[in-house]
Amino acid sequence: MSTTTRGSWNSKLGFILAASGSAIGLGNIVFFSSNAYQYGGGAFYLPYFFALFVLGLPIMMLEFGLGTMTGKSFPLALRQVSGRKGEFLGWWAIISALFITSYYIALLGWAFGMMLGAFNGLFEPGVTAPFAPFAEPSPEPSAMIFFFDLIASWKTIIFILIIWSLNMLILWRGTSTIEKVVRVFVPLMWLFMICLVIRGATLEGGFNGIMYLFTPDFSGIADPTVWKGAFSQMFFSLSLGLGTMTAYASYLPKDSDQINNSMLVSFLNCGFEFIAGLAIFSILFVFALNPAGTTLSLSFFVIPQGIGAISEYAWVVKIIGFAFFLLLVVAGLTSSISLIEGPASALIDKLKISRAKALAMIAIPGFIGSILFGLPTIVDPDLINNGTLGLNLLDITDHWVFGYALLVVGFVQTVLMGWVLGADKLRAALNKHSKIKLGKWYEILIKFIAPALLLGIIVLSLLQEEGLYGHDFELAGMNWLAIFIPIFWLVVSIGGAAYLTTRE
Ligand code: ALA
Repeated sequence: MSTTTRGSWNSKLGFILAASGSAIGLGNIVFFSSNAYQYGGGAFYLPYFFALFVLGLPIMMLEFGLGTMTGKSFPLALRQVSGRKGEFLGWWAIISALFITSYYIALLGWAFGMMLGAFNGLFEPGVTAPFAPFAEPSPEPSAMIFFFDLIASWKTIIFILIIWSLNMLILWRGTSTIEKVVRVFVPLMWLFMICLVIRGATLEGGFNGIMYLFTPDFSGIADPTVWKGAFSQMFFSLSLGLGTMTAYASYLPKDSDQINNSMLVSFLNCGFEFIAGLAIFSILFVFALNPAGTTLSLSFFVIPQGIGAISEYAWVVKIIGFAFFLLLVVAGLTSSISLIEGPASALIDKLKISRAKALAMIAIPGFIGSILFGLPTIVDPDLINNGTLGLNLLDITDHWVFGYALLVVGFVQTVLMGWVLGADKLRAALNKHSKIKLGKWYEILIKFIAPALLLGIIVLSLLQEEGLYGHDFELAGMNWLAIFIPIFWLVVSIGGAAYLTTRE
């Protein structure tokens, strides 16, 4: 394969592992299960598959195609095909993604702390107090108490520092180290997940959980929130709208078959998500644990409680507990490196600075952000008093940035590629090196269907918002964070994007 000063993948396998490593992450293991539960079990598959085939797969082709057509990272690639407005969108996407990366790494810091908890009394056989997330902490040792201690303890800063340092270490030399790491980590996470699903399915009663995942409850299907949930889940899970996939694809030779690559990466991602759903639902239901509640409660105390009851032998429980959180850390790392590589390659391309400098420009604010996200009870002491993991920095940021930014980027980039560049040109570029040829339908999809759907869901969801804080939150009095966060995000992302776009 060709080598450029920007870096390049050594093999197609290297790229597929890196891109699927980017796609498979916390989104697949934790967010998918909690979304599937929240949005009606089996019924969630309807918007989910719709989102995969109508938005996810076609937009992955677009983002990969953009990378190989231009050989540039997201903002400059968009500028080449659609002018300055494209570059502005690219920077806006990347800055917004950095908000997500900051809390993503905070979650990985927590997962790291929970992993070490295996040596520290976290996973004890029989610790399965009935799931009552916001009740008074029981005197029994429980995953919930362990978790609340963790997020209120300064040692979490060390865990977050470890995760940021690992990311920097992997990204320091660019594609060559990324490729080495994903060659080990990606097969490892498949192996862990397959072991987990076998254990879950062979537990007595595990089948009931699996049945839940396939039993549709269509009562909520007309609710736009469910569709928005599925769309943003699909975007995040496939690492779309973040600037990541275009950066990764820009390290490929120009004659790469991006239709084939998109199908491979999407199916690997959704296949993993599917078996992760089986594993998590079977384990949770065996112990009659209720996976309701936030994503955070699911991963950080519901699942650990389930693991506590998986065997009467302490060493089995500890090994499984350790392995589950190691799986989260490994899968999360192969995603977080891609979330950081997107902005790093963009800064290197635009400002012509060294990789080290670009990484420092991302890591310093990112690390500070991760600490704020990682220690929510210190940022917002009311959290402990109202006993919820609901109204905090992370949830509000997630509500706005995760919930809207990815879809807005998806909408604008389909308009730019469909109308400004021209969907015919995009289709011709994709077809040129591909065995499978896209028909005229692809142009119709990119020009009309995808932007209309995305705009429709964004507008409908905005109309459902109650006030500035999002309808998911119950405000006991006015919480300044709820107002401050969306404003802060918009000022930083719009201001930063305007500054970087106009800089020559
Ligand atoms: N696509 C990555 C995930 O699902 C970011 O976690």
